[in-house]
Order: sequence, then structure tokens, then C-alpha cells
Amino acid sequence: MTSGPHTAEQPTLNKDVPWDSFDPGAYIGNNYLDMKAVDEEIVSRVRDHFSDRLRGSGRVLAGIDVGAGPNLYPSLAMLPWCERITLLEWSANNIEYLERQRPSYDAHWEPFWKVLREDRAYRGFDPKAYFRRAAEPVQGSLFDLCRKDPQWDVGTMFFVAESITESLEEFRRGVSCFMHVLRPGAPFAAAFMEHSEGYRVGDLEFPATYEIDTTEVLTAFQKFAYIDKKDVHRMADVGHLVRHGHTGMILVCGRRKE
Ligand SMILES: C[S@@+](CC[C@H](N)C(=O)[O-])C[C@H]1O[C@@H](n2cnc3c(N)ncnc32)[C@H](O)[C@@H]1O
Repeated sequence: MTSGPHTAEQPTLNKDVPWDSFDPGAYIGNNYLDMKAVDEEIVSRVRDHFSDRLRGSGRVLAGIDVGAGPNLYPSLAMLPWCERITLLEWSANNIEYLERQRPSYDAHWEPFWKVLREDRAYRGFDPKAYFRRAAEPVQGSLFDLCRKDPQWDVGTMFFVAESITESLEEFRRGVSCFMHVLRPGAPFAAAFMEHSEGYRVGDLEFPATYEIDTTEVLTAFQKFAYIDKKDVHRMADVGHLVRHGHTGMILVCGRRKE
């Protein structure tokens, strides 16, 4: 597929990409087979954010992970509080992957759970049984969320709005659609590649929005979310630059505006 170098004149759009050919095995091999330092940091911060915001809620909420792809740690981070977690994903291959993980997820996700268990909210239950009951892979597009009613109490979106298009306008629309479906006050976490030139999965190249930096991310959220300065994390040291072709990663943890 796609894409070639980013050109402002003719950016590759989300619809131009053969998402059904996304290879979850190759993607996991590149990113999640061993837990990398940057993911350990992200998981710890998201765990603390959700734990602070949701302590005492009980396991009654509806969560959503947007563009879940072959990454279970965002949904694992919501597990103690959610009786239902929608894993929204556009690619047929990734939906199949998520369905296969449901009965009993693969062993390489266990180190991520171990980091989550450092907080007591994540103890005292079997995560595989909870995941099996809560996780609901749903094939659909981030952009269609804009036409739904707000209905989720907690949400995550990791490496999606900026990693599915070269268009800054589509990136901004993606963030706004994610925000749109969260209920007022809902805590959320979202992560982005900074200045990514795109990424390879198996034999295919996928697009990214090159303009993304902390300012662009905060601008995209401004209308919709409360985000404390201390909850914006840019990770850009050498140990964090494990995925090449970008200059860092940006994690924001916040709350949907009332
Ligand atoms: C870079 S991957 C990120 C996957 C995962 N969230 C992670 O943290 O690694 C981008 C994901 O977005 C999915 N995707 C692409 N276009 C989408 C759309 N319009 N709506 C929802 N998901 C989409 C892709 O299939 C892929 O799984």
C-alpha cells in the first residue's frame, strides 16, 4: 500500500489504506512481544490515572478502546471498572485477532498485567475471565462515532488518530469523534506518535500525520477535555525511540468536559 513521503498537497487519507491487510502478527512482533520501556511507562501512567479517577466505581461501566488493533493493554487498563469494553476496530484481520484473544489471551500480555497489578484495583480477580466477559470486538470506524450518542464512561485511543492518515484535518476529526462518544466527566487516555513519517507492518507501509507534536495534540483536545499539564507526557529519550521514523510519543490523560 500506501503512501510515500508525506506531501501537504496530497495526503494519504484513511480511506486510501487497505486496513484489512494489516498483519497483527507482524505488528505485535514489532511492538508488543516483549514489553518495551515506553509501554511500561504508558501502562503505569494510565493505570494511575484510571485508578485515581474511578476508585470506588464498582465494575459497572462501559469502556471503549478506539482502533484497538492488536494491542490489549488499553483494555486491560480499564478492566477493573468495566462490565463491557467495546474494542472498536476497522480492520477485519485485527477483529479476527481480537476475537481469538477473547477466550484466553496470549502469554506475552502477562507482563503488561503485572505492571497493572502494582495498583490494588487490579488485584483479586482473574483478568482472563474478566477480559473474556467484558471484551466486545466491534468492526467500525472511528469517524462514525461522531454520529453516535455519548455512551461510554471511560475510553482509550492509542496510536490511532495520527497513525491512520496523513491529513491533519482527519487527525483532528478523529480526536473529536473519540471525545464525542464519551460521557461528561469520563476519564480517558490517548497516545500519539510525534512527527511520525509512517510505519511498516510486514510488507506494507502505513501513513501517519507528520505535523503531530504536543501543541497539535492539546489543540485537538482543547474544546472537549480537561487535561492537567502534569498529565501530558512526552517520551523522547533514546530508550523510548524504539519505533523508528518518529521523534517521540505523547501520552495525554484527561477527563471529558461536562
Ligand atoms: C497504529 S495501529 C494502533 C493499534 C493499537 N491501538 C495500538 O496501541 O498499538 C492503528 C489501528 O487503527 C485501526 N484503524 C484504521 N482506520 C481506522 C478507523 N477509521 N477506525 C477505527 N480504527 C481504524 C487500524 O486497523 C489499526 O489497528
